Amino acid sequence: MNIGLFGGAFDPWHYGHESIVKGALQSGIVDAVIVIPSGRNPFKTGRVMSAAPYRYYMTRTAVEADFGNNNVFVSDIEFMYSGLSFTLTTIKEISKATYIRTFLKSNGVKGSRADENHSFYWITGSDVLPTFDKWREADKIVQLAGLLVAKRPGDGVNIEDEMVRLETVFGFKPDIRTFDIDGVDAASSVMKKDSDFGKTPESVREFIKLHDMYNPDRSLELVSDDAAEKFYDYTIKLYRYLGEKRLLHTINAGLLSLEYANIYDKNLNDRALIAGTLHDCAKELDESLQREMAYKRSGDTFVDKKLLHSPAGAVMAADEFGVSDPEILDAITYHTTGRGNMTLLDKIVYLADKLEPSRTYADLTEERKLAVTDIDAALRLCVLRVKKKFESKGLDIHPLTVDFMDDIGIMN
Ligand SMILES: [Fe+2]
Ligand SMILES: [Fe+2]
Repeated sequence: MNIGLFGGAFDPWHYGHESIVKGALQSGIVDAVIVIPSGRNPFKTGRVMSAAPYRYYMTRTAVEADFGNNNVFVSDIEFMYSGLSFTLTTIKEISKATYIRTFLKSNGVKGSRADENHSFYWITGSDVLPTFDKWREADKIVQLAGLLVAKRPGDGVNIEDEMVRLETVFGFKPDIRTFDIDGVDAASSVMKKDSDFGKTPESVREFIKLHDMYNPDRSLELVSDDAAEKFYDYTIKLYRYLGEKRLLHTINAGLLSLEYANIYDKNLNDRALIAGTLHDCAKELDESLQREMAYKRSGDTFVDKKLLHSPAGAVMAADEFGVSDPEILDAITYHTTGRGNMTLLDKIVYLADKLEPSRTYADLTEERKLAVTDIDAALRLCVLRVKKKFESKGLDIHPLTVDFMDDIGIMN
């Protein structure tokens, strides 16, 4: 097969991206397109970019809705690399026979087709051509893959001239093909600035709404460079440990923790982001392993299966993610039960876990409103709900939760 590779931040995926994929397929030059959301895009460093798993799952949702997974697939390959994403590395890895064959088969492509020898085209806009040779190791990129260039109407680039120029620069004639696309005037940066996502497909608008993405109250501008770096790295690392729903839940909880910290004590911004993001990191480990880790951290304090992941999470945060701050490790340890004398960080993470935007277990309007004005009042509402649930099921409430309830004035 001829396979088009379409990389980008996709933050968010929009009609412009859609028209490029459609145009590439309609051109007949490629039989399939693999969309590759960047891990960290070297051209878009800084804090403005959303965490990679958000962009990856959002793109998958959109591609499924738009193309029904029919010859258009989304790859997570750039998550496999730490640090920044570079086009050459991505093409090298994805074009390896073992990788591409397995990838295509796992996306429903028949074995005989998946096992063919494939040729690759890197899909890009014509506006990129005048500076393409400045890309890192551009000459090697065009030795591994052709370039499939989308001609945007009125972009002012003379493609024939550029081809001649690139041939001179590289000393050989790169395989450059072109295709036409409808002019879609859509730019992610403008959408985010104006909070107007009208030029994204409905599936993307729903995803943004569900996770309350691009909310300025949770901007990474509010944390240190170090915490922002860690956040990006942790979210990618967590991708290996957690399924889609739980991973998005933990990222949401991290960002909501940041919002709460920024309201109640800005000194906690960094720690809240990290603690919230890692709070459920151990939840999908084997139960026996969770039990072992929980025992290591807290002895017999947590024995119920559902609680093990909290102390185990603290152990994992320390051992796997390198977190040494005791307050962060405590906030993770007690996020399920609470405890007496909760620190503000404990309270923030407890609440963010219960109220992050994708939570739909109850109507949380009142709790969410209170959480940004009176954190203890919001906690009381949340814990009362827990208490009622336990009572209705005839279950015992954990002694740490009893201490917590006493502290915030809930009668037993
Ligand atoms: Fe949890
Ligand atoms: Fe959670």
